[in-house]
This record gives sequence, C-alpha cells and structure tokens, in this order.
Amino acid sequence: MPILGLGTWKSKKGEVYTAVKEAIKTGYRHIDCAAIYMNEKEIGNAIKECIEEGIVKREDLWITSKLWNNSHAKDAVIPALKKTLSDLQLDYLDLYLIHWPIPFKPQVFSAMRAEHYLSLEEMPISETWQGMESAVEQGLTRNIGVSNFSIKKLEDLISNSTIKPAVNQVEINPYFQQDAMLEFCNANNVYLTAYAPLGSSDRPAGMKGKDEPVLFEDPILNELAGKKGLSVAQIILAWIRQRGISVIPKSVNPDRLKQNLESVNIELSDEDMALIKGINKNRRFIDGSFWEVPGGPYTVQNLWDE
Ligand SMILES: NC(=O)c1ccc[n+]([C@@H]2O[C@H](COP(=O)([O-])OP(=O)(O)OC[C@H]3O[C@@H](n4cnc5c(N)ncnc54)[C@H](OP(=O)(O)O)[C@@H]3O)[C@@H](O)[C@H]2O)c1
Repeated sequence: MPILGLGTWKSKKGEVYTAVKEAIKTGYRHIDCAAIYMNEKEIGNAIKECIEEGIVKREDLWITSKLWNNSHAKDAVIPALKKTLSDLQLDYLDLYLIHWPIPFKPQVFSAMRAEHYLSLEEMPISETWQGMESAVEQGLTRNIGVSNFSIKKLEDLISNSTIKPAVNQVEINPYFQQDAMLEFCNANNVYLTAYAPLGSSDRPAGMKGKDEPVLFEDPILNELAGKKGLSVAQIILAWIRQRGISVIPKSVNPDRLKQNLESVNIELSDEDMALIKGINKNRRFIDGSFWEVPGGPYTVQNLWDE
C-alpha cells in the first residue's frame, strides 16, 4: 500500500473528479473511498480516464473502499462490494474495509433512532467477516480489513477469522496519537491507516464538539513548520509516516494535493518527533457520539471499548 493516499470523504460532486484526476497526475497511487461518501461514480470516471490516457496502470493503483453499516449481513457484503466496483468501474479492490462496527437494519441508510440499529449480538462482526472473506475468495478484493475498531474488537476478530484483517483505519493525528493501538497492530501484523490526519476541519458542524482545539494553530507544529520552511500539514503527515502508519489526507485543492504528497520526502529528527509526541491531547475529533441515540445499542464507551 502506498504510504500516502488521497482521502475522498466530503469531496463534493463536481470537485472530486478533478481532485482525483489531479492527484493521480501529481503522483498519488492510493485513493481512499467509501460507498457512503456518495462519490464513487465520479471517482470511477477519473480513474478510468487516467488509465485510458496512459497516466497510470490499474496495477499501479491502490484503491480502498468500505462496506456501509446497512450491509453487514453475511449475504449482503458481496452485493454491496459489487455496487462499489461497478461505481468505481473496477474489477477488483485492493482493500475492502468494514467501515464501522455499527450494524444498521438493511433498509436503513442513516440511522436516527434506536430501531434503526442492530446490536452486535444480533449482527456479530464474525458474520460480516465471513462475507468479507468470501469477497477475497471470489477475487473481488485483494485484502480485507476494518475501520474504527478498538484493540478489543480487533483481538476478537483476529482470533475468530481465517483471513486476518490486513488494516485498521482509525483517527490518528498529533492530538490523538494512538500509541497503544500502534503497538498492538505492529505486534499483530495489522497495518494502521490514519484518517482525519489534519483534524478534519471540513466536517459537518453537527459532527464537531464544542471548543475543539485547532490542530493548524498548534504553537509547536507552527514553530517546527516555520523553522523548516514547510507547512503545518506537511509536518503532521511526515510525523505520521515516520511512525510507520499510512495516511490519507483529503484535499480537492491542487496546491495542497501537491504539498501533501511532497511530505513523503520530509525527514523529521528524533527531537522533532519527540516534540510532537508531547502535544498529544488524547482527544478524538471524530468521537462516534453520532451513533448514540436514546435507547440505542451504541455508546461512545462501547464503541471504543473504553
Ligand atoms: N474510516 C472512517 O471512518 C473515516 C473517517 C474519516 C475520514 N476517513 C478518510 O480519511 C480521509 C481524511 O480525513 P478527513 O477528510 O476527515 O480530514 P483531513 O484529511 O484531516 O482534513 C481535510 C481538511 O483539511 C484541508 N487540507 C488538506 N490539505 C491541507 C493542507 N496542506 N493545508 C491546509 N489544509 C488542508 C482540506 O481542505 P481542501 O480539500 O480544501 O484542501 C479539508 O478541509 C477522508 O477523506 C476519508 O477518506 C475515514
């Protein structure tokens, strides 16, 4: 997996096609998608054109997508993946992830009330995983993994699966550093991918907490960036990469796409790495509280097993 990829959540219709094309032309080889981002058709058009124009070959790209919460039933996984493949105009994915360990009832797209959800007792992850394993067996995806899984949920999955999860995609940034998760994943051959590396500031207002800290205003990050003539984003992306974690910053802006990709050539010193380690607030920007509804099965505590 190329260590730096392009995030596509919130990349709007009309913007995402240009962003993906520009990204591939700039040198990106890894695109992070999901059915729920509602933009896979446009991404597919951009990928197809890049291949047809000889800018890139399919085998040089790494395309990830994610199973939405309403398709966790064992027999629902392959149809959901086939829809994603059709939208992306691809024969196979490089990686397919269970987006959240939060199953919905099949017809529910956006769960607002308790009765929209299924508990993990009603729809166990082990059942969803059997569908994911079938997808590998059928050649529809090369690798399978998970997203937003706690160490405990990963442990359960690793001990109850034939094909082990290749990846856990979770939030990682200087304010939420995830040392224990990194240690666990390194010890168990699970590769970590960092989402919201730059603090996901373009999230909808309803997903933002009160008085959120602003990563881009952090004094230590700004001092390091100023000293090195780099941007704060580049410092953050280099720090994540140097911890052996892949990272998928989202941008639809050509200059920012370029500077984010250029971060792969930045080397931070041990001293720089230690300075950034010191600014951890152990605070998620995307805390999963949007899955909490009165009388529903999910809470922030049982989601993250904290
Ligand atoms: N598995 C999951 O549950 C999950 C959850 C969240 C995210 N993700 C994935 O991870 C990706 C990244 O996370 P994210 O989109 O939430 O947030 P992010 O990448 O942390 O932040 C995106 C924001 O940063 C801006 N930005 C990008 N590069 C910049 C730069 N060099 N300088 C200043 N601002 C910059 C973007 O604006 P412009 O576009 O205008 O440049 C956008 O407003 C997503 O797109 C998605 O693919 C997965």
